[in-house]
Amino acid sequence: MRGNSRRLPVLRAGRLVQIRRAIESDQAELARLRSDPEIDHFMGIDASPSAWLWRHVPLGDQSAALTDLMITDLVGEPLGLVSLWDRAIPHNAAELSIWIGAGHRDRGFGSEALRLTLRFAFNDLHLHKVYLRVLEFNHRARRTYEKCGFAVEGVLREEMRIETVWHSLLYMGLLASDFHAIDLAIEPIDEFDSRTPPAIV
Ligand SMILES: CC(C)(COP(=O)(O)OP(=O)(O)OC[C@H]1O[C@@H](n2cnc3c(N)ncnc32)[C@H](O)[C@@H]1OP(=O)(O)O)[C@@H](O)C(=O)NCCC(=O)NCCS
Repeated sequence: MRGNSRRLPVLRAGRLVQIRRAIESDQAELARLRSDPEIDHFMGIDASPSAWLWRHVPLGDQSAALTDLMITDLVGEPLGLVSLWDRAIPHNAAELSIWIGAGHRDRGFGSEALRLTLRFAFNDLHLHKVYLRVLEFNHRARRTYEKCGFAVEGVLREEMRIETVWHSLLYMGLLASDFHAIDLAIEPIDEFDSRTPPAIV
């Protein structure tokens, strides 16, 4: 499985990570990486048996996402998943979700994967806006989003109950124009254009 994934076309590659479309055969590896209490904690998923559904990573025809993108290192080893979710009303906007597996966090992978995904979302999918919801206490994710230009647009008060405690969510948004300005201003990342044939490892 890992060997096959290395030969799949890469959409964007930076200095540390690359993104490519996730396919059904990525399921087992993603399930292994996703099985991580820290991800549950920051995604607001409690320990109840019924929560297994939220840990499941449906891919391919089973996925309700607009696109699921596998985050891998530069030789194709899976690190996590970033998804863009369509919304019911079609206004060129999508909701983003991201997670990086245990042992791979806090090494800059999430920030670069996010930036590559936003380039894909705005330049290839021509979205006008990307938005997300993040738990107020998830300071690492908030910092990661803010670095790419996301701004808090509102507070969804006591939107999630984790175990017995209610938590608020921040609604953060990013317009294509905001991102292009930020993307130019921050340190460049090496990236080949998605039309360039991907490297075969
Ligand atoms: C959120 C997540 C995707 C970020 O990816 P990552 O690879 O771990 O993050 P990076 O190393 O790229 O960057 C993290 C940034 O947050 C900062 N940070 C880390 N912990 C922090 C904290 N407690 N408070 C504030 N900032 C923090 C880091 O210093 C870094 O910023 P810098 O580059 O300015 O130094 C990843 O940690 C993750 O999957 N977490 C669990 C699931 C999750 O929270 N998903 C998001 C749900 S909305």
